[in-house]
Amino acid sequence: MALSLLLTTGALLTGCGKDLPQTPFDPAGPVARTQLSVLNLTLWFAIGIGTVVSAILIYIVLRFRSRLDDKSVPTQIHGSFKLEVLWTLIPIIILSVVAVPTVKAAFSTYQPSAAEGETMLVKVIGNQWWFAFEYPDQKVVTANELYIPVNKAIRLELTSNDVIHSFWIPKLAGKTDVIPNRVNKMWIKAEETGLFYGQCVEFCGTAHALMRFRVQVVSQEEFDAWIKTRQAGVQEPTDPVALAGKALFEGKNPAKAACFTCHTIDGTKAQGKVGPNLSNIGARSTLGAGVVENNEQTLKEWVRSPRILKPGVKMVDHPNLTDEELNAIVAYLRGLNK
Ligand code: CUA
Repeated sequence: MALSLLLTTGALLTGCGKDLPQTPFDPAGPVARTQLSVLNLTLWFAIGIGTVVSAILIYIVLRFRSRLDDKSVPTQIHGSFKLEVLWTLIPIIILSVVAVPTVKAAFSTYQPSAAEGETMLVKVIGNQWWFAFEYPDQKVVTANELYIPVNKAIRLELTSNDVIHSFWIPKLAGKTDVIPNRVNKMWIKAEETGLFYGQCVEFCGTAHALMRFRVQVVSQEEFDAWIKTRQAGVQEPTDPVALAGKALFEGKNPAKAACFTCHTIDGTKAQGKVGPNLSNIGARSTLGAGVVENNEQTLKEWVRSPRILKPGVKMVDHPNLTDEELNAIVAYLRGLNK
């Protein structure tokens, strides 16, 4: 008993801390808050039911246990109309009470109400094992790092290119399945700026656990500036090393690298759609969908042999690049930092 008490307390203390980056117990927006309130309501009902049932059970076990000195046969009964009505009615009442806020929440978290005013649409596309984010109205595409303005309702339309994934940003909204040939909807609104962590929460293959993403919540001004920069397109590199990297990226020597067949860099020859859009790869904080910090060293390791950092990744190794060529590609990508 002491051990289970200790374990429960430990679990409570470590599982629900407010400082954790991925906790639904510290909502930063209306959707997550609504969902937490439903969770709390059902949790209290469950605790109440658990307590009452356990108490009755303990009482019955103690009260009606067999006694050495009592050899009599207990009264034989079959069924109890009163009890059966009671334990049918009580759950019906409890479920009806819980159903009202649950159904309401299901509708209110599906799409923002008119009271939210102007909204913005972002399309979320799941891929093994990364997320693409498309802003159709702004004609901007990014990957694994979602930029959104603070205090604005963002409508998300989710679909998948391959298998079923699930999209979850614990502090902003609960999970929504990301299913091929189907568009699911949800919405988020962040009431504070900062970084929010998310991840795929449906087993989707080898690298499922390494399918993370980040949500960067910024002021409306910062967001507008970001969109404008992205819309302006990428700048042609001036540095000769980066230019050499660009040529390699675009398949100058296919035996060494043909990055352009899988990746897009806006406004260039590279228009592949298999891998993430890399137009602002230099500005992203991580590589491989949240697997490692994005810096020169990790980018080199990633281009050379991504499978070492992310087992299962679909990107190929590049064993034939010389160090000089690898440095050139990395210089080109590092320069895409707007
Ligand atoms: Cu995608 Cu798990």
